[in-house]
Amino acid sequence: MINVTKTYLPNKEKYFSYIDKIYKNGWITNNGPLVQELERKLAEYLGVKNIVLVANGTVALEIAYRTLEIKDYAITTPFSFVATTSSLVTNGIKPIFADIDPHTLNINPENIKNAITKNTSAIVPVHVFGNGCDVESINDIAKENNLKVIYDAAHAFDVKYKDTSILNYGDISTLSFHATKLFHTIEGGALIINDDSLVQKARYLINFGIENEESIPNLGTNAKMNEFEAAMGLCMLDEMEIIKSMRKEVYKIYKKELKNTVELPKQNENITSNHSYFPIIFKSEEQMLTVQKALNDEQIFPRRYFYPSLDTLNYIEPKQRCNISRDICNRILVLPMYPELKKEDQTHIIQIIKKNI
Ligand SMILES: Cc1ncc(COP(=O)(O)O)c(C=O)c1O
Repeated sequence: MINVTKTYLPNKEKYFSYIDKIYKNGWITNNGPLVQELERKLAEYLGVKNIVLVANGTVALEIAYRTLEIKDYAITTPFSFVATTSSLVTNGIKPIFADIDPHTLNINPENIKNAITKNTSAIVPVHVFGNGCDVESINDIAKENNLKVIYDAAHAFDVKYKDTSILNYGDISTLSFHATKLFHTIEGGALIINDDSLVQKARYLINFGIENEESIPNLGTNAKMNEFEAAMGLCMLDEMEIIKSMRKEVYKIYKKELKNTVELPKQNENITSNHSYFPIIFKSEEQMLTVQKALNDEQIFPRRYFYPSLDTLNYIEPKQRCNISRDICNRILVLPMYPELKKEDQTHIIQIIKKNI
């Protein structure tokens, strides 16, 4: 069976040596030494100033909204994983959708402008499939309208825009380190905070809002990463170069073989690719379903990602409709993509797609 992704497991002996350390010092959670070490190493690796590690990418978004005190309405994209929107709703913020660009699949800045009202407090764009948003236009819009920007950068680990980390744009960017991601800590996530003065507040918020033994000034939650997860991250980080080069190879073959068969999303200019996903867009939903079935019949499971479009969620108020996002959601499939995908399996996947188009 070939799934859309397969978790990369780094060197076992190295991981076990970290576990030995954890057993020796007995410190397994609450900002332990390995979490601190991973924060330092990741900040350097990614080229960012401030990183706060958390339990997953969903709470990273929630902590970002609370750190920036976002309320009322936030403009976001309907084409994302459900957590981008559900995290807003759980925090009492109403999502207003700005439809996407049909080629880059990212939120369209023109549609952001049209959606702004006096009750808008933030923009929550997503660097979909690691393809960076139009960060400069979004920055201008945010400045002109005094809005905060929180990038859901769950897919954008190690992505650079004009030679600097794309995570340095916006007020806060959030990452997901879920087991299926390019870089993972089993479960985990992070906030990249560009304003130094907000870092300590975020640290309190991930630990119930506790400032010290006598003071709990803000409504916090428990969003801490533990030492076993940080140990996994430290091992992954040591193997990033090999992981990246294996992914790049898989990506190159798909691109060469499929670029004239199906539509591929357009990569924004000046953006590096982290080769984390390989989405393909079909002419029609019918064609997509035919290919999906043909692959499934051979025990190959690409993913309808993202599906459904988030403007169709039944808990969204006010009701909205984003036609471009809905159309793309009906026609897109993300192909199996992971470092250890065998060449013969990839060839088989490509053949099935070509035969069924
Ligand atoms: C775009 C996007 N945002 C948020 C998340 C949530 O991250 P996590 O699964 O770590 O909570 C995901 C993850 O899967 C994602 O793809």
